[in-house]
Amino acid sequence: MEEDVVSVVPEDEGKDKFKKSEHVAFYRRQIQGPNLQHRALLDTMVLTEKGARFELLEPDKQTRLLLSMSPSKRDTVRILIDELRPVKARYRVPDVVTEEPQCEQLRVDRRTNDSVTLTWSSGRHRVRVWHFPFRLEILCENEVLVTFNAKSKLWFETLQDPPSELQDDSLWKETFRQFVDLKANGPSSVGADLRLHGFRHVYGLPEHSDDLQLRDTRGGEPYRLYNLDVFAYDLFSRLGLYGSVPLMVAHKPDRTLGVFWLNASETFVNVQYFPTEQQDDQSPLVRRRKVEPQTDVRWLSESGVIDCTVLLGPNPQQLFGQYAQLTGFQALPPLFALGYHQSRWNYDDEADVKAVDAGFDRHDIPYDVIWLDIEHTDGKRYFTWDPVHFPQPARLQLHLEKKKRKLVVISDPHIKLDPDWSFYCEARDGGHFVKDRDGQIYKGTCWPGESSYLDFSSPATRAWYSSCFSLDKYKGSTSSLFVWNDMNEPSVFNGPEQTMPKDAVHCGGWEHRDLHNLYGFYQHMATVDGLITRSGGSERPFVLSRSFFAGSQRFGAIWTGDNVASWEYLKISVPMLLSLSLAGIAFCGADVGGFFQDPEPELLVRWYQAAALQPFFRGHSAKMMKRREPWLFGEEVTAAIRTAIQQRYCLLPYWYSLFHQAHTCGLPPLRPLWVEFPREQNTFSVDHQYMIGGALLVCPVTEPGVQEVQVLLPGSGEIWYDVDSAEATRGGRTLSLPVTLNTVPVFQRGGSVICRSVGSFSCTADLQLLPLSITVALNCEGGAAGQLYLDDFHSFRYRDTKSFCLRRFDMLSGRLLCRAAGEEGTFDCDLVVQSVTVLGIKSKPSSVTVHVSGVKDSSAVFEHIETCCMLTVSSLNLRVTTDWEMLIS
Ligand code: NOJ
Repeated sequence: MEEDVVSVVPEDEGKDKFKKSEHVAFYRRQIQGPNLQHRALLDTMVLTEKGARFELLEPDKQTRLLLSMSPSKRDTVRILIDELRPVKARYRVPDVVTEEPQCEQLRVDRRTNDSVTLTWSSGRHRVRVWHFPFRLEILCENEVLVTFNAKSKLWFETLQDPPSELQDDSLWKETFRQFVDLKANGPSSVGADLRLHGFRHVYGLPEHSDDLQLRDTRGGEPYRLYNLDVFAYDLFSRLGLYGSVPLMVAHKPDRTLGVFWLNASETFVNVQYFPTEQQDDQSPLVRRRKVEPQTDVRWLSESGVIDCTVLLGPNPQQLFGQYAQLTGFQALPPLFALGYHQSRWNYDDEADVKAVDAGFDRHDIPYDVIWLDIEHTDGKRYFTWDPVHFPQPARLQLHLEKKKRKLVVISDPHIKLDPDWSFYCEARDGGHFVKDRDGQIYKGTCWPGESSYLDFSSPATRAWYSSCFSLDKYKGSTSSLFVWNDMNEPSVFNGPEQTMPKDAVHCGGWEHRDLHNLYGFYQHMATVDGLITRSGGSERPFVLSRSFFAGSQRFGAIWTGDNVASWEYLKISVPMLLSLSLAGIAFCGADVGGFFQDPEPELLVRWYQAAALQPFFRGHSAKMMKRREPWLFGEEVTAAIRTAIQQRYCLLPYWYSLFHQAHTCGLPPLRPLWVEFPREQNTFSVDHQYMIGGALLVCPVTEPGVQEVQVLLPGSGEIWYDVDSAEATRGGRTLSLPVTLNTVPVFQRGGSVICRSVGSFSCTADLQLLPLSITVALNCEGGAAGQLYLDDFHSFRYRDTKSFCLRRFDMLSGRLLCRAAGEEGTFDCDLVVQSVTVLGIKSKPSSVTVHVSGVKDSSAVFEHIETCCMLTVSSLNLRVTTDWEMLIS
């Protein structure tokens, strides 16, 4: 215990163990280096079915590069730059882009002495390449949207043969603290700048504990993308955290665009907004001089190639679709994964797990999954069980399974160096470990002491690791056991910056530096494959990972790591999750209550209320923290937490439908306000409120002792209905809302329809038994629409045999229709709609009738409350998979 506490509590060296940009040689070289005036050799230009390619020449060093540019049918433009004749291959990130976009045939639109303009298909978009200094502009109609290399920051260190002897100050050797990094390829960094014309708001680049909108980095640190295990990370920091997605999203009222920089090595991004804030203050002057807003961004990576895709939107929905098409769609989680997860480092033994499980039933609090941290293993050997505390793990899982609940166990990437352990021996003999620079198996320390690290970048290692999850191999596991990958940045306690040295070697001879940010992505991938294979390919997996990269959304969920039990960390969790959502990682959450330190009861309640309205919902805490199961703080706290969790469960039909939307269209369930209100400039910097789907606006309370909150309700033409009181408020204003400890400010947007389950849940499986209620919130025209997605909630039958149904609800002129949303899908179930509530009906109707499949079914029982313009039609029994309509007259 003592040892563990020491290893998680910040050490004296504190945050000094992590680098700042000034400590990083390639960053210094690029920032301090000259602008290199590249020439585009336009006479080398060749147009192929994949796009165009031409050479770039840097006259000083006579560096020759090859630029390939491919526009796709989906309005994306990929710019790929590599050496023309490299002495050896440079790393190109595999496995992230799921589908090579279908390219458009280019044609020359215009040619001058200085430039060539290319266009494709509709002719709306064009690319203009300037000879000197080389620039590449992307235009829509005649408007330049993006200029690549606007500031001549293109940087490409070509690979050289190693020198015969290494000098200490050489470009081939870098020292940080006691760590020496020997670079097998010498200096190999790349970089480029892009100007985003007309944009003053950029977002993305998770993971950082910072506001949603990216800051201007002048005078401060650049955004660092380098996956690191940072315990109790600083707030408002741009240093690297556990995962990285090199996607930047830019937004202005008439366009959303993205820049995706596909590079898995250490990467920095600088952002400069123009006009600057000072220039802005003198706005009349600025206006007179017509200073066009723009954002300049500069990307710098340690190795690999330049592989930069510009996603042209133009609207947020299209942008999400383009990005998902490129890197994959959010995996559709099994329904249980959207329920509440109860975790702690650690639940001590089987009796403890059973007692906590029973506690939820006793207190009538629903939950789906209980989690076991590292202590459940035999001496931190993953895939084993502590024989004293968990002697009968399968029996424990059966106990939970009877209540339709699951167990999640942790499986980290470090493997205890134990020649008497068959798992270790198999990995060693199979060549599954990462090597050090001398070709020996790399050793570092982590929870089990001396360990080696599986090389998940190797397909063979992934296949072997996946097979270790089979039920016959993983003793004590059952099909209701799911997995948590932690420490997979990877975390190495005695490594530089607490991670793996960059000169460690992976399969294919690639240095760790080339693929560092992919390590966790690959473990997540292999674990997910293992669970799918375990089920013979029929069951959807659930795997949580701490580390991630672009594309990790295809595998499952991620969480924001070791946060702290304080109000500031509750508050920052909102922009952190929004930023992840924008970058495709839609199934994300933060440890409820804070991992480190003990939350006061009010904080705990507020955290449950906020997290119940976020995608991944798990309570978790560190080993030395006090127990904090929801019933340990008195009845008032228990009741508030119960309500928050019950309400989450009631909203599951909506959450599940949103995940289906993420899975098919790329739209994340959690959205910044501007995604839904792209023309409302006052929403562009808002990150303490957000939308769940298009229908619900949430403003979680993240401060203590609050009696009133200010809620921005966007859209002057909108109506918003308070979910608690049904009170309607016109949009385009900030509402002062009185709150108590039990208030969670949530508003339904006029024009939307939401389905909820009614009744008391014990776990998500109850969704199949409980009736539905539908809330129709009318807009100013008296209309509303919404969808509901259903399937068996756990298998791949929705994909393989189209066993699903997508229903839509449309309300217009007092007529509510329930219909299929499309041709596809065959799925029937007994779910019935028990009540329909319509918000925004001013006067009491004289009758409400229901027609099922065209035949008049009944006159319905209804009640109208004039004060809040609410009509409730109750005692219905309408199958949701059958067509019906309700006439209100
Ligand atoms: C670090 C993780 O972030 C935390 O959630 C976990 O409890 C500990 N590792 C122990 O496994």
